[in-house]
Amino acid sequence: MKIEVEYLRFMWPMRHFLITCGDIGGKSNIIAVSFCMPVSKEPPLIACAIGKGAYSNKLIEATKEFVVNVPAQELKQKIYYCGFHSGYKVDKFKETGLTPEPARKVKVPVIEECVAHMECKVRQEIETGDKNLFIGEVVEAYADEDIAGGKKKVEYAKGDFPHKVYAARFKG
Ligand SMILES: Cc1cc2nc3c(=O)[nH]c(=O)nc-3n(C[C@H](O)[C@H](O)[C@H](O)COP(=O)(O)O)c2cc1C
Repeated sequence: MKIEVEYLRFMWPMRHFLITCGDIGGKSNIIAVSFCMPVSKEPPLIACAIGKGAYSNKLIEATKEFVVNVPAQELKQKIYYCGFHSGYKVDKFKETGLTPEPARKVKVPVIEECVAHMECKVRQEIETGDKNLFIGEVVEAYADEDIAGGKKKVEYAKGDFPHKVYAARFKG
């Protein structure tokens, strides 16, 4: 017998990313994102779904740029902080102690403590449901030399299905 389920449960475990947005001279922000995936090899495109009410949504719509920063599992607490607080209310760089560094080709800062960075320029924006899907062209990608070269192994940040978050939506 098969029963009806919350569909998202079977999409997990998912990797976690820290997406930076905004301008280094202005108010830049960090959002925790799991709905993020490559959608083209040539041109190199990444799609990420950002909640319509998120401060990050407003910043990416305004600047048309974002950076996908790849965190290791050891940044888990900071990822959760960025995922449970809004840039409308707090300065997440200040609160987490994560370090903004200038990017190479976009005005959005990268997060120094992350192991890899994909700088993206928005090429398409699609309204989905409660989210907007931003499709960004990767204009620059770089990573810690030891990790990129295979000398150092890293456990990338990921998580299991967050039952509590979706409990309100599906009672099955
Ligand atoms: C592990 C994790 C993954 C998340 N993934 C997403 C996601 O893919 N898309 C999204 O819109 N929000 C996601 N969130 C929720 C946002 O990070 C959260 O709403 C955040 O407070 C928005 O911040 P902002 O208002 O500063 O943009 C995730 C939260 C966590 C903890």
